[in-house]
Amino acid sequence: MGLLYDKLTEYAGSDYYPLHMPGHKRNALTPALEPFARTDITEIDGFDNLHAAEDILLCLQQKAAAIYGAEESFYLINGSSCGILAAISATGQAGKKLLMVRGCHKSAYHGLYLSGQEAVYLWSEVHPQFGCEMQVTPKAVEEALEENADISAVLIVSPTYEGLHANIPEIAKIVHKKKLPLIVDAAHGAHLGFHEKWAENACRQGADLVIMSLHKTLPSPTQTALMHVNGDLVDRKRLRRYLQIYQSSSPSYPMMAAMEEALDYTNQKKKEIFDQFYEYWQDMLHTLSGCQYISCLKENNSDIGKLVVRDTSGCYSGKELYDLLRDEYHLQPEMATGDYMLAMFTIGDTKEGFIRTAKALLEIDRKCTVLVREKQHKTTRYPDTAVLQSMSLKDAWDAPKIKVSLKEAAGKISGEFVNLYPPGRPILVPGEKISTEIVSLIIQYIEENLTVHGIECRDGEIKISVLS
Ligand SMILES: Cc1ncc(COP(=O)(O)O)c(C=O)c1O
Repeated sequence: MGLLYDKLTEYAGSDYYPLHMPGHKRNALTPALEPFARTDITEIDGFDNLHAAEDILLCLQQKAAAIYGAEESFYLINGSSCGILAAISATGQAGKKLLMVRGCHKSAYHGLYLSGQEAVYLWSEVHPQFGCEMQVTPKAVEEALEENADISAVLIVSPTYEGLHANIPEIAKIVHKKKLPLIVDAAHGAHLGFHEKWAENACRQGADLVIMSLHKTLPSPTQTALMHVNGDLVDRKRLRRYLQIYQSSSPSYPMMAAMEEALDYTNQKKKEIFDQFYEYWQDMLHTLSGCQYISCLKENNSDIGKLVVRDTSGCYSGKELYDLLRDEYHLQPEMATGDYMLAMFTIGDTKEGFIRTAKALLEIDRKCTVLVREKQHKTTRYPDTAVLQSMSLKDAWDAPKIKVSLKEAAGKISGEFVNLYPPGRPILVPGEKISTEIVSLIIQYIEENLTVHGIECRDGEIKISVLS
């Protein structure tokens, strides 16, 4: 058992009466409180304080740092989102620029808004068959750093949502030549570095700030994440200040105890659990190699665990594959776009999960042979061309807006984020000029039944927010 969990359970069994928060007073007054009420405390004596950790919570953070090879690690209880906000705020300031991958999660854009920085975008290539964004290249980073002054930091995503790893060691060298910090959004990479079949984690590859969601790929509850720091390019005082700003002042102790246990479990059993995971994964891929049309994304830098699948016959769009798996096989995928569907596997999966998925996709593949040529889905692409930022994100998001029909929006300035969700990458950022291509793309996404945030669909009309 973890240090914190043990201490919390011991305390729960004691006769201390709570004359303090939380309001349930450690009594499961409603059924939903049952699993954790007894151990859900606040910062009482002996339990340290996450915002000024010096005792048990410091010890937990030091354990995390040792596991990932960081000089310092911080527990995040508002997800990777709050770590990304803190990283951007701590490394930049108004008037400066953040060199960032365009396909960053929305929290990176929120970080820009809050810190008053501008973005210089790194555009990744789009995969020719799958239509997903590829990883950013060292060359793209090098060129952008040569062409742009006033950059405060570089932010990349690795692995991507679809599991593609960037060449972090090379990128780190390039960024460090300019004496800038490299921030890696490794929200999807907390499982890395534990086993030789998986890539190394970004802390051991030269990144200065690494943010990883424990809840995405390790057995840890939703909302839990870590931020790691290495080197002297990041002002740690500022980082701490922003973590205090963006994190709740009442972190959940059951959640922090679960984080420690997730890390202990993964680290102590790494050989056994990742060997097992690898075996199930390989068996599933072996079964899927029998498919004629169902094809899996397999690049030499693909992560193990992200099953990105498309139907090459053109019968099923990614969303239709997603719906089939969910409705007919009761397998709930992670996400879909027009082209592909993403299923996620981790050390938490059972053998049954791999087998059911493989069988279902094989069966769907057989259906493709029957339906081939009857229907062709449209190909969906992320916007991959330079955008025209007519106004700063901050000014545009704060400016007065009106709603207009999407069909009449071309040429106007976007007043809101428009995101394909999940994963929450922007199609449009406030302040960007709306092009006719973007209008067509949004219409296409909606026709393909994908979830688009930031627009209003009512009575058959799509409305979008623009500057008035
Ligand atoms: C690439 C990426 N970064 C950051 C986040 C935010 O992570 P969290 O949900 O832990 O706040 C996500 C969430 O989906 C993501 O996909």
